[in-house]
Amino acid sequence: MKKTILGALMLLAATPLLAWQGEVAIETPNTRLLLTAWEGGDLRQSYYGDKSATLQQLRDAGDDLSFEALPTFGSVGASHLPALQVQHMDGDQNLELQVTDYSTTDDGRAVVHTFTMHDKLMPITVKLFYKAYKHVDVIETWTEITHQEKKAITLNRYDSGHLVLRQGDVWVTHLHGNWASETEPTMEPLTQGLKTIRNSDGARNSHLDAPELMLSLDGRPQELTGRTIGFALCWSGNFELRMNTVSHREHHVYAGIDPTAAHYVLDPRQTFETPHLAMAYSNEGQSGISRIFHNWARKEGMLHRGMQTGDILLNSWEGIYLDITEEKIIKMMDDIAAFGGELFVMDDGWFGDKYPRKVDNSSLGDWVVDKNKLPNGIKALTDAARERKLKFGIWIEPEMTNTVSELFEQHPDWVLQRPGRDLRKGRGGTQVVLDLTNPKVQDFVFGVVDNLMTQYPEIAYIKWDANASIENYGSTYLPKAKQSNIYVDYHLGLIKVLKRVREKYPDLVIQDCASGGGRANYGLLPYFDEFWVSDNTDALQRVYMQYGTSMFFPANAMAQHINHVPYWNTGKRIIPVKFRCDVAMSGRLGIELQPKDMTPEERQQCTTCFADYKQLRPIVQTGNLYRLLSPYDRRGVSSIMYTNDQRSQAVLFVYKTDNFYDQPLPRLRLAGLDASKTYTLVEKNVRVGEEPCKLNGKQFTGRFLMDVGIEIPLWEDYASRVFELK
Ligand code: DGJ
Repeated sequence: MKKTILGALMLLAATPLLAWQGEVAIETPNTRLLLTAWEGGDLRQSYYGDKSATLQQLRDAGDDLSFEALPTFGSVGASHLPALQVQHMDGDQNLELQVTDYSTTDDGRAVVHTFTMHDKLMPITVKLFYKAYKHVDVIETWTEITHQEKKAITLNRYDSGHLVLRQGDVWVTHLHGNWASETEPTMEPLTQGLKTIRNSDGARNSHLDAPELMLSLDGRPQELTGRTIGFALCWSGNFELRMNTVSHREHHVYAGIDPTAAHYVLDPRQTFETPHLAMAYSNEGQSGISRIFHNWARKEGMLHRGMQTGDILLNSWEGIYLDITEEKIIKMMDDIAAFGGELFVMDDGWFGDKYPRKVDNSSLGDWVVDKNKLPNGIKALTDAARERKLKFGIWIEPEMTNTVSELFEQHPDWVLQRPGRDLRKGRGGTQVVLDLTNPKVQDFVFGVVDNLMTQYPEIAYIKWDANASIENYGSTYLPKAKQSNIYVDYHLGLIKVLKRVREKYPDLVIQDCASGGGRANYGLLPYFDEFWVSDNTDALQRVYMQYGTSMFFPANAMAQHINHVPYWNTGKRIIPVKFRCDVAMSGRLGIELQPKDMTPEERQQCTTCFADYKQLRPIVQTGNLYRLLSPYDRRGVSSIMYTNDQRSQAVLFVYKTDNFYDQPLPRLRLAGLDASKTYTLVEKNVRVGEEPCKLNGKQFTGRFLMDVGIEIPLWEDYASRVFELK
């Protein structure tokens, strides 16, 4: 009986399906992606760019670019890379997709175009989606793969999307770095051959290479001009972005999960959905792409916080590290309240019973309060915060454990592990990663948040950390045949947990932290409100890192804290508190030091900074970003500005990045203003003991500020200025 049904299914699959033919324009307010399904059935892509182009015009103009929208192994010529390669149950690796259906759905904010494709031989269905937003120039693309073969098939390559472009003077900008030096942009021309950007940390994916890039189509990237395409892979795990320049004709961009050690085993009738790849096009250069991504993130739900702004907080980490006591915590609350702060966050070190967290080599997983450090528990802290009109936040690292913990003693099978081999251990020589492919572990991780919130409903903020890579490749939960699903199923498990957290606690603010900026990605931001840009809070280096991070992420997602000096990683360098404040003020402002060690000048400057920031915050955190001078250009100054949508107000930040005698500093030309409006410059966060500079109170037209520009007085080392324009 069973055999007959399977036989019938195979027959059905072998019966030629009716091919769908047609031309489709996928449109956002200013952009268009053109696709055609030919007779014979494969889907081809011809154009992505400004909305002015039609297929007919392109043909009339002699443009004959046309390439498979989703190149598959077995259907594209051998010299082209596939975006999808499956191994059928019998070992065959060929796939020839023909479009059998096309449909659209419209939810008011976006139109989803669905191309349903079938293999010409085997019962495999691939749906290729394009979600085109109506209010922002972003198109998301992804696929869904399902099959009815008799046994599991293997996805050997399963990119989310592919884009073909005519070859030209195209430059790529990608972000890379390391722990404590994240997001440095590198810009380089796309030359013949393959360029691959990938990350294989397993658990995090933006410390080294990041899953976003921009392509500048008109040569060397410019901030305010030039046709530019941006890509962001919405995924928190391993990825591969490939740019293949072939045949003197085309650049191909592929983006998806890195298939290395991740060949995905897919059972019959199971559906695999690839992560979404977001693409944006702008003819306003790199900052045009940034503004599109920021808007999409904030207004279309890719950032849980949306258009809301974040509170000014004090985080305990760099002030007292693990050395938490109730007395210290409450004193820190007094200080942040006195400066005008709004939230206090108790970082690592508050937990552990049998194994109290004294150093970083124990206790993760044992999420009970350490009664030696906090004899009156967390309740005493939430009470203390309320009394000081502060919100209270707490740190957890729920995906991890230490081999020195009660959790590990009770559930050694809950950690990812290599069968028959010793555990590889990370931080503290004992840290290991929980096996999130296992539903029981998912319940546990959800429970970490749920238990805290149930016991202490006044917790308003959680810092969710993740300080280990996946070093032990093996799951006691997944069957042997599916061990290669680990890298993917880990993140699918994580997302399941985060969805549960969000369903139950939609208003809880959650910071996405992973040893600093290890998880700045659009795979996780729908569930998080902000991310920790870096464990490096040195203000000068932050000018650089924040500049790079802003290329894809909006200011209200970027947690930026004022630190103490001298700082652990930059020797004896003393950066003035004014500069430190001004740098932190350009995103979600916070402070991370021991306030009791601050000088009177530092205390006064922070108080001024907080008061001014509260007034500027809506424009900074939810405004439109224009990057004016890059620190990477080494012109001695870096500058960014934000405008509101009406262009009636703006905030300008200027930082001196080095200081030499007779150094000609560039005249600063602003951007994004209304040329016909007149703006008054008001200097903010003026240095304690000084008067505002001579530009204060001066009026200029937008035209003057953008075309002629102003000379910003920046004399001494680490000089900086903040202006409001109104
Ligand atoms: C890494 C984070 O990035 C830091 O901010 C801090 O929370 C530590 N972990 C705590 O262990």
